Amino acid sequence: MRRVDFQTFDARGYRTVDVRTGYGEWVAHYEDTVEDVMDLALLERLVEPSWQSVRRAADLGCGTGRTGQWLRDRGVTRVDGVDVTQEMLELARRRGAHERLVEADAAATGLPGGSYDLVICSLIDEHLDDLRPLYAEAHRLAAPGAAFVLVTFHPHFIMTSGMPTHYTNAAGEPVAIATHVHLISDHVAAGLGAGWRLADLQENVIDDTWLAVKPKWERFRNHPFSAAYTWRKD
Ligand SMILES: C[S@@+](CC[C@H](N)C(=O)[O-])C[C@H]1O[C@@H](n2cnc3c(N)ncnc32)[C@H](O)[C@@H]1O
Repeated sequence: MRRVDFQTFDARGYRTVDVRTGYGEWVAHYEDTVEDVMDLALLERLVEPSWQSVRRAADLGCGTGRTGQWLRDRGVTRVDGVDVTQEMLELARRRGAHERLVEADAAATGLPGGSYDLVICSLIDEHLDDLRPLYAEAHRLAAPGAAFVLVTFHPHFIMTSGMPTHYTNAAGEPVAIATHVHLISDHVAAGLGAGWRLADLQENVIDDTWLAVKPKWERFRNHPFSAAYTWRKD
């Protein structure tokens, strides 16, 4: 698998911290800065899966529970969440969208294998150096016929903007969280390699809806921002 080093594109040069440190600090303002148009709007566009038919889901990198809540709102009654950042899990716990919350790596969750008809993972893979263990763990968790939905920042956007995932800390300093660039072909290789079949792929671009939320991004108009993959375990 190729490695595309984010440093080549970094236009900000912010001090970089690891995932737990970063989200442990960002947690206080995370929900104010993440826009639904980045990920939830893409989930709406997926042709597969049929959310109503999902009985039990595993939400990898569940954070504060945004994705879990979105699933609950679509009738998915049983959602287990996994995250490495205890402070993010604490907010998810308060939100109450998940049946069970586990502090663990998304690539080694400890959840029961073959038990979920949906595995979902939204906006975390840019923090993973290697996609293959994530795709393999999702496949282990999935029941036969299950879907794996992965929402990701588009590699084009990370490259063209030169922006790492970042937040502003309590001292007013912009801080980056370790960011990796994964090409579309990296996802395809990791997914097929783990035994998944690609069932759907949607990309969004910065359009009027986006610009109503982030007017400063006019210079990125029509650039793809994020993508959602649906994989199927046959
Ligand atoms: C941008 S947030 C996304 C949270 C949620 N999925 C959402 O859509 O709002 C990224 C989350 O992934 C978690 N994360 C990053 N790397 C992880 C890993 N290897 N295993 C589990 N969680 C991870 C972080 O702690 C953080 O809560």
